[in-house]
Amino acid sequence: MSRFVVTGGRKLFGEAEVQGAKNSALPILAATILTRGENLLFNCPMLSDVDASMRILRYLGCDAYEQSGAVIVNSDGLRENDIPDSLMREMRSSIVFLGALLARTGYAKLSFPGGCELGPRPIDLHLKALRKMGAKISERYGVIECRAENGLKGAKIDLSFPSVGATENIILAAVRAEGPTTIINAAREPEITDLCDFLNEAGAEIYGAGEGVIVINGGKELYGASHNIIPDRIVAATLMSSAAVTGSEITLRGVVQNHLSAVIPVFEETGCKAVFNDGDLLFSAPERLKSMRLVRTMPYPGFPTDAQAVLMAAATLCDGTSVFAENIFENRFKHVEGLTRLGADINVQGRVAVVNGVKSLYGAKIEARDLRGAAALVTAALAAEDKTEIYGIEYLERGYESYEVLLSSLGADVRKI
Ligand code: UD1
Repeated sequence: MSRFVVTGGRKLFGEAEVQGAKNSALPILAATILTRGENLLFNCPMLSDVDASMRILRYLGCDAYEQSGAVIVNSDGLRENDIPDSLMREMRSSIVFLGALLARTGYAKLSFPGGCELGPRPIDLHLKALRKMGAKISERYGVIECRAENGLKGAKIDLSFPSVGATENIILAAVRAEGPTTIINAAREPEITDLCDFLNEAGAEIYGAGEGVIVINGGKELYGASHNIIPDRIVAATLMSSAAVTGSEITLRGVVQNHLSAVIPVFEETGCKAVFNDGDLLFSAPERLKSMRLVRTMPYPGFPTDAQAVLMAAATLCDGTSVFAENIFENRFKHVEGLTRLGADINVQGRVAVVNGVKSLYGAKIEARDLRGAAALVTAALAAEDKTEIYGIEYLERGYESYEVLLSSLGADVRKI
């Protein structure tokens, strides 16, 4: 088990390049199995979740490796269409291989991803949609078996909730299905648009990505593509929270202003300033933050659930009371325990957390319990007096590339042990 030792109280300064988006990279890696020839993915973050996806690809028979900063995948040699339990367990997001495998081979067998650290993670919307496209699906003993021997058929799919994963699985299945598929109430996250951009570059015909209705004209042959993965808006929000909580000024390079449109106003409410200039963001924070009033997580373009924990870390040192309402996941306040140990004043009632800002946080030994929660603990530790030891850094490494190196380059005192 690795841990971070953070000596807090230092101001951050300087510039940081924001890594590529994990939540784009994972579905795009799954999408490569629909293509012939070589795919070149640039700006792909090197994370444990990306590594797990590449191991799944190699298990399936694809070539997947990193070379000179790019990830290269060639799926011509794909020969398997099941994913063993051991690989599925490593990463819940591997469910996105379901639509792609089924579309490519007419069969897919994988174990049910089950619950995770955020609470139950059902996939009923994924399966309902694939059934509507003609897949025969059995779920027994935690194993999902999908068949579409005669291929999938395009369909009209109305999602009761704009699930990111379900939208991705439907798109992946639909690009090889016969005829058009229409997704109504599709997820609108930038990572969905990035997946569709990649698929369109590979030869697919997808319209409406980023909007509530997506139309996919299926049945096109797809060929390897060269693609630049979008910057990670959650990592950007994490670095902004880190600057906010330490009263610092930093520049983030390679950010997309639109992707942060729900996050910036919350920081502005606290007195921070964000100035965008051609992909650079100059972010500065006052000595003492004002409170955030109400932060409600919502599907995009609403405030992202993935940024809730890191904003809460900043709220612990605000002047006044901030309220967080978590509307996407049932169990997403696991960072509260660690923040409280550092001296934060937080009361949780169901899906609402009330944060009364305190004057100071104090270093302690704390443990991360999920990915974004880990980032929140590191963020708070940057502002805590003395030394904080954060255990469970494996969670952080699922989504943040060499994070201790990045923070150190901004002047923080962070060591990985
Ligand atoms: C993706 C992101 C994750 C982010 C989340 C919400 C990836 C790899 N992960 O996760 O970082 O926090 O979007 O923005 O991109 N649901 C159902 N039935 C389903 C599917 C989902 O009830 O079939 C529910 C979930 O339990 C959850 C909510 O819908 O409460 C949102 O889930 P979803 O949008 O599917 O998130 P993920 O794709 O799992």
